[in-house]
Amino acid sequence: MKTSSWMSCLCVAAFCSLAGTAQAETATAAPAMTAPTMTGDATRGKQIYSRCLACHALAYDRTGPRHCGLFGRKAGSVKGFDYSEAMKKSNIVWNAKTLNWFLTSPMTAIPGTAMGYAGIPDPQERADLIEYLKQADAGPECAKKP
Ligand code: HEC
Repeated sequence: MKTSSWMSCLCVAAFCSLAGTAQAETATAAPAMTAPTMTGDATRGKQIYSRCLACHALAYDRTGPRHCGLFGRKAGSVKGFDYSEAMKKSNIVWNAKTLNWFLTSPMTAIPGTAMGYAGIPDPQERADLIEYLKQADAGPECAKKP
């Protein structure tokens, strides 16, 4: 009898700490920060990138910062580009996971961002676009130093 009440006490404590963690996670979660689960097609991604060309270019800054050098770059760190405070303080490094998260709904992911774009809700389109951005980053257009 003694053992079982001691056991249930332990279980309650474990449950409480688990519940606490779960709560802390939901409080900060915008869209889930996970890498695309499907394979991206860079050719389709290039077509999707035309939506970004309204404001971005690969090799130079426009309304939005250049995308060359994006992978592994800290968010808000292109020298001379006038980022929002929200982007500069986001503390994100761009990779497939963070891009998949941000591009789903930029203004929800980083409230206060100056990127006035609703986002790409389709996960396959995001996977294609991210694959294109990755290949472009490693490709000839980004090889010349700006
Ligand atoms: C309406 C203009 C506009 C469109 C369209 C747009 N962007 Fe942006 N983007 C911006 C601006 C402005 C910023 C800087 C945001 C800030 O400082 O908060 C930005 C920032 C970014 C960043 C962060 C870069 C860094 O150096 O930290 C990424 C990544 C990005 N955009 C990707 C995209 C992609 C991919 C698309 C196409 C799906 C896209 N953007 C469409 C204007 C735009």
